[in-house]
Amino acid sequence: MPLRRPDWTDTEVNRMARDTMKLSRRELLALSARAGLGGALSLGTGVVGPRFRLARAGTTTGVREIRLEAREVRWELAPGKMVTAMAYNGQVPGPEIRLTEGERVRVLLKNSLAEPTTIHWHGVDVPNAMDGVPGVTQKPVSPGETFAYEFQARPAGTRWYHTHVAEHDQLDRGLAAPLIIEPARPDPGPVDREYTLVLDDWVTGTGSPVPPTREGIAGGRGGRGGMMDGMMGQGGMGGTMGQDHTPAYDAMTVNGKAYPATERLRVRQGERVRLRLINASSHHTHVVRLAGHRLRVTHTDGNPLEQPVDVDALPIAPAERYDVAVVAERPGAWILTCLAPGHRAAGEQVLLVYEGHEGAIAAAPGEGVAGLDLWQYGLGRGRDVLSASSGRVRVYDLALSGGMMGSDVWTINGKRYPRTDPLRLRRGDLARVRFVNHSMEAHPMHLHGQSFKLLAVNGARYARPLVKDTVDVEPHMGAVVVEFPAHNAGDWFLHCHKPMHMDGGMIVLAQIG
Ligand code: C2O
Ligand code: CU
Repeated sequence: MPLRRPDWTDTEVNRMARDTMKLSRRELLALSARAGLGGALSLGTGVVGPRFRLARAGTTTGVREIRLEAREVRWELAPGKMVTAMAYNGQVPGPEIRLTEGERVRVLLKNSLAEPTTIHWHGVDVPNAMDGVPGVTQKPVSPGETFAYEFQARPAGTRWYHTHVAEHDQLDRGLAAPLIIEPARPDPGPVDREYTLVLDDWVTGTGSPVPPTREGIAGGRGGRGGMMDGMMGQGGMGGTMGQDHTPAYDAMTVNGKAYPATERLRVRQGERVRLRLINASSHHTHVVRLAGHRLRVTHTDGNPLEQPVDVDALPIAPAERYDVAVVAERPGAWILTCLAPGHRAAGEQVLLVYEGHEGAIAAAPGEGVAGLDLWQYGLGRGRDVLSASSGRVRVYDLALSGGMMGSDVWTINGKRYPRTDPLRLRRGDLARVRFVNHSMEAHPMHLHGQSFKLLAVNGARYARPLVKDTVDVEPHMGAVVVEFPAHNAGDWFLHCHKPMHMDGGMIVLAQIG
């Protein structure tokens, strides 16, 4: 069955992008229509570079309209690995949407699935009614219906969008895509080229299952250490853990493809290359490493650091995003891969090739993480981009538990959503949330509608907190404190981003009145 992807090459798209600078609005719309996207031109694995400014062209005339259709497709992850995916506009991941900060956008979601769906704009400060949570902010979009999401693109950064209905199925099968909001003011750290890499885990039934991410692979993040070594050591999953209901993930993809089907990243010597890493996985933490190069971390969940941080490898929990810069100064062909056990063999591997070195033998990074500088939250100093709050401080303690003896019950303070006690806030309040993880699995906790500051992890307080919207709380009494100014009114989900845990009840509402 033929798979629909934009059928132009990178060169073509870049040429079109250049030409667009000279296009009239009518021509632009015609061009965009060819992309099947209403007002947006996008591509799944875009080489876009800073010169790619199509997205901007429509901004002066008001609301930009984008059309997305959710439907089932047969999708080839790699030769011999076909899955029945759910896709936006027939592609996995869905089309990358690029907006400029402050721009108004209207996204018409047509549901051509056989079941209801919605879209959540992860990391975007949307009005509550646009947040995509079925039964809370909207009625689910029924099969055959179209729903209009409208909001202003903000804040700038690497965001993403995905289904918020039956995520254990719909998200797992491909309903996710990048949403890049470019800063309205010129980028202080310009790059010569950029790639968006969406990492995902799949159940295909064609390979042997990859060990689940048991421990916060983030391991040393809070200085407790050891987790990562444990994982890398004996094949990862402690045999002591009970069986649970985790699906048998057996394929790992980068932009919807498993190696050898992954698309190459091309660079030129001397270039500064930005990689926007998005973990769309339901379950797995990935540890991204590029052979021969350091990764310069510049943004956490889309939000800028004061100073970039250079690391050898970068753990990225489900729903987290990191922007990293790579300085292309080692000509050749190199492998970008994940160091978590089994992930590379399951397909999580991409070639990065310097121009003129297309025939080079690609060098892979060594095994394991021993001796590597690993990113951890404590290394970064965040820029304070959140609004100030003058109101009162309200403190909430949330104990994360569940999964005992392989059960699929997951709780917050002993209760399962919808019985969890909401965080009741007034606009202007400063909310401080303290998570303690009593369970044996990590929980990437995500707050809708606004980002938070990461004040402390496992007892270590951060003087310059990172700004994030998702934080991985380590198992075995991992402790995290976040704080956010309650500025966006409405009922907002705060939940574990692993669909299994979310469906099991690990959700609480932050009600901002
Ligand atoms: Cu990205 Cu409620 O999720
Ligand atoms: Cu969880």
